[in-house]
Amino acid sequence: MNRGGYNRSRMNTSSLPRVWVDIDLQILRDNYHHMVETVAPARVMAVLKAEAYGLGCLPIARALASAGVARFGVAEPNEACRLLELGLPVQILGAVLPDELPDLIRQGVVLPLTDATVAQAISREAQRQHTTARGHFKIDTGMGRLGIPLGEAPALIRSIRRLPGLACEGIYTHFPMAYRGGDDFTQRQLDGLTRLILELEQDGIVFEYRHAANSDAINNFPQTARPPFNWVRSGINLHGSFDTEGRRRLQLRSILTLKTRLVARRTLPEGSTIGYGATYRLPRAMPVGTISAGYADGLPLALSNRGYVLIGGRTCPVIGRLSMDYTTVSLEQIPEAVPGDEVVCLGGAGPQAISVESWAQLKGTHPYEIICSFGNRVKRCYTNA
Ligand SMILES: Cc1ncc(COP(=O)(O)O)c(C=O)c1O
Repeated sequence: MNRGGYNRSRMNTSSLPRVWVDIDLQILRDNYHHMVETVAPARVMAVLKAEAYGLGCLPIARALASAGVARFGVAEPNEACRLLELGLPVQILGAVLPDELPDLIRQGVVLPLTDATVAQAISREAQRQHTTARGHFKIDTGMGRLGIPLGEAPALIRSIRRLPGLACEGIYTHFPMAYRGGDDFTQRQLDGLTRLILELEQDGIVFEYRHAANSDAINNFPQTARPPFNWVRSGINLHGSFDTEGRRRLQLRSILTLKTRLVARRTLPEGSTIGYGATYRLPRAMPVGTISAGYADGLPLALSNRGYVLIGGRTCPVIGRLSMDYTTVSLEQIPEAVPGDEVVCLGGAGPQAISVESWAQLKGTHPYEIICSFGNRVKRCYTNA
């Protein structure tokens, strides 16, 4: 049956997983190209930490490389090493530990210079390997997490630069609240790093890579993509999502659609209770569907009695509390739905589309946590590779 555009073309095939996320690599490439045009002549480093925010590091990296990405940023060594097969520079943006250095230096990973002790250890190991390690100074201008405090940076940078076996090719910082456009906090960070870069340049110390902007800054502080900065680092925007606060300067589309299948359809009598805690009682007899995805798959518990899914493009409100593997929905809008039908939990087209940001708002979190929360059971399916 195909009523009102209700499409069952993908249904009832045994190859379908129960829960999957369709990741559109063409949209990913489009998002990247749009960003490149917007920030030019600055260049874009793709930040692919935590498995590209849970979407799958290598497929995402390959698609971006085919679109022209020239550099990847990650949080830690394992992520860095997995990306090396693409033959592009990979840079650790977080911290490194002494025992990790031999492998990282041997493989040519670009390292964060976060303090004198780390820099000395890198220098020693590089000399032992008769090689030169590449590093970027990580300057703490207000994130308070890692790096050389801004006040100590002028002296420390001058001394670390003299260490043998170390090529100090970059300098960067990170913004904790660049979603607040015009805010003094980010502006002070930016001014501080700019002053440092210019002061060092006056002494002939020039870094090839100068970067500060994350996605929030690209959207809310366009000056972070202008000189002295010549690179930006973006993760979430490449996926087409934005912080829930702040301006959206870029026009991006979400690359993901989270889907599952209807596994049961029953008509239950008025007064029936639904789910753990019996938090919903049917006000009348109605068709009730059970879909094969729950909080283990990344659906926020906060959707309970508040969110909706789409079946055949029609909205089906979540009724009762989500459980680990299943979620119950009203099928009043689509009584013809049958088990096996495809269900869009997140994404979709048109005015009813469910955005990552709307889930983040319902859950009281940010879009990063939503994207990073898809469970292991959720198959990552790549389209338009
Ligand atoms: C140091 C650093 N730079 C850039 C990014 C990319 O951030 P976003 O995904 O907001 O673009 C991150 C991620 O949190 C980061 O830790």
